[in-house]
Amino acid sequence: MTTTTHSGCPADTPGTIARHAAGDFRTTYAHLRREHPVYHDHDLDLWVVSRHRDIDEVLRDRHRAFTPAHSYDPIQPTDPEAARIYSSVQDVPVAASTDPPAHTRYRDALTAVWPTSAIQLAPWHSHVEQRALHAAQALAARPDRVGELTAHYARPLTARIMSDLIGIAPEDELCVISGSSGMADLLWSFQSAADQQRCAQSVVDLWKLCTRLVAERRGQPQDDLTTRWISYRDDAGVPLTDAEIASTLMEVLTTNAETLALLTTTTLQHLLTGSGYRHLAQHPDQAPAAIEETLRLDPPLIGWLRTTTRPVTLAGTDLPQGARVLLLMHSAAHDETHGVHATHTFDHRRGDTPPTLNFGAGIHYCPGTQYTRLVARHAVAALTRTLPGLTLTSQTPAPRPTNLILRRSTRLHVTW
Ligand code: HEM
Repeated sequence: MTTTTHSGCPADTPGTIARHAAGDFRTTYAHLRREHPVYHDHDLDLWVVSRHRDIDEVLRDRHRAFTPAHSYDPIQPTDPEAARIYSSVQDVPVAASTDPPAHTRYRDALTAVWPTSAIQLAPWHSHVEQRALHAAQALAARPDRVGELTAHYARPLTARIMSDLIGIAPEDELCVISGSSGMADLLWSFQSAADQQRCAQSVVDLWKLCTRLVAERRGQPQDDLTTRWISYRDDAGVPLTDAEIASTLMEVLTTNAETLALLTTTTLQHLLTGSGYRHLAQHPDQAPAAIEETLRLDPPLIGWLRTTTRPVTLAGTDLPQGARVLLLMHSAAHDETHGVHATHTFDHRRGDTPPTLNFGAGIHYCPGTQYTRLVARHAVAALTRTLPGLTLTSQTPAPRPTNLILRRSTRLHVTW
């Protein structure tokens, strides 16, 4: 690692990484990639990794040097009462927090039921399209002709489609939404003790909802994914336990609620601040390209976590065993090696789209990738089709704490 300290260097400035979701960090990321591709942030006690190839190496982990076991441990010192509340769910394993062989068991069960490929998703296309159209029409029907795109469109739409698959009742959707945002805020941001306790309680409430749903479906099977996970048997004929099914539900619900709405609204934000929205209203077939451009320019997941299982050297820097590593996914998206022209401009008609790490790589590669692309593209296309004259009136940061892992969400106030 470069040890020279110089004034103004982001690697030496306390709070740099804690604030990386706020504001424009592209210059900072470029400096880190060039001068400090792997360095230790003393405040957070995190090893920060900024280059695409190094992040890719950590995620693929060919030498078993990294574990995701602590990905769901809070970043900040947790308030004792919040920790007590959260303790009942903190150690519940999920696919994203386990190594093989436990991971293999979760992953096999997850992907045996969850649609991961375009072919498996095909039966869902028209349902997703219809849901998106209804959501756009519901927005359009607001009598005052004003709305906010996260609260009045993206969040309810993405929650509803996932609920249809899993079998969540409409009256329980609020619990899913607040449990998911509560988990993200509790784990990856910096909050007061009271807010931590509130978030911890919302996660526990969501866990109770998941366990209740499994119990209900055992008694009364339905045509939904929860029932299919109950029917699932591994190669040896062993079913999942109720806790394993509930944790799978919890993982799928929380991941979906936080990232998919963010991807949708960020795409709309970029389209509406330029001429892209009007163009897309004429060419809805270009919605998939707009989603890819958002993943390239301004992805929902700006960081992710690993911990070293032994001493390891990464990009020439020695990391001790037990080092917590923050992978700057947003920085990887802007890596110079991608050779993208006009890299800071949103242009969904560009031809040069580099590979994205936003869905991870290796054995934990996101099983929700195809689903995410399908829902996001229908969400964007349905809105442009229903409200071609939609205009952004103002944008304000959402009243949520800055997060180390998720892009800062913005309130997008619109009229038509
Ligand atoms: C924009 C949307 C999304 C992004 C950016 C995203 C990103 C990621 C990333 C980076 C990973 C790898 C984590 C790791 O290596 O530890 C991952 C894993 C995972 N994602 Fe997604 N995801 C998204 C949407 C979804 C959705 C909609 C689902 C719902 C099924 C989902 C379910 C999962 C699960 C279950 C895992 C764990 C897989 C494993 O560990 O084997 N994700 N996701």
